[in-house]
Amino acid sequence: MVHHGLVELHPDYPVRTDRLLLRPLSPDDTAALVAYRSKAEVCRYLPFEPMNSEIVAEKLATAWSHRTITTEGNALTLGVELAETGEMIGEVILFFHSVKHRGGELGWVFHPRHSGHGYATEAAHAMLHLAFDELRLHRVTARVVAANSASLRLADRLGMRQEAHLIGNEWFKGGWSDEIDFALLENEWADQHSVSPAFCAQLLNRPPQSAR
Ligand SMILES: CC(C)(COP(=O)(O)OP(=O)(O)OC[C@H]1O[C@@H](n2cnc3c(N)ncnc32)[C@H](O)[C@@H]1OP(=O)(O)O)[C@@H](O)C(=O)NCCC(=O)NCCS
Repeated sequence: MVHHGLVELHPDYPVRTDRLLLRPLSPDDTAALVAYRSKAEVCRYLPFEPMNSEIVAEKLATAWSHRTITTEGNALTLGVELAETGEMIGEVILFFHSVKHRGGELGWVFHPRHSGHGYATEAAHAMLHLAFDELRLHRVTARVVAANSASLRLADRLGMRQEAHLIGNEWFKGGWSDEIDFALLENEWADQHSVSPAFCAQLLNRPPQSAR
């Protein structure tokens, strides 16, 4: 959306996909967030320690309270609900790093109970639609700890291109860790969707609309 000459992101909530609803977080999500963010296995490759309800409540009142992106430095965290049950199963986040370079970064965290169904892929793919089609970004990155194989597969499924393997770049949770950097450019995103109209369907492992 172009607002006062600047491109901003003002999604119509909820953002709907086949099986999910994406919408801003609220204090009502505290318990659902703590249910997975307090787990060591979930935080293993994330740059923070397991969170308790006080920390989650503080985040909900600050960093996670945004509904829009209006300028660089903003980050939009959207809760992901199962459309069928209304259960909150994870989050996707979009960081808007630079107006000049039209650059952003994508992140994802989900409850392990709901892994293995493609929900994170479906939600992150919806966030890429917002990033490219609405915020008009030129390049979206994802930074993944090299040992985080589920996340590497997710970035790959999203059609993101591996650009770098940084060796021992960060002191991470008691040791030097490698980082794999992925990126997707706006023309690559457009190609994926126009050269292969079935790309979205293929990615989400379901038949294209024409074949349904
Ligand atoms: C990273 C993370 C979101 C990945 O979760 P995930 O369950 O593997 O991802 P998805 O929900 O997209 O599910 C994909 C899996 O379901 C399978 N699947 C089943 N049905 C599917 C469908 N309809 N569409 C796509 N995948 C489907 C896929 O084959 C894939 O399995 P595989 O990786 O064994 O091949 C999760 O591990 C997580 O939250 N980790 C902790 C937080 C974290 O590390 N975040 C990343 C920081 S960079």
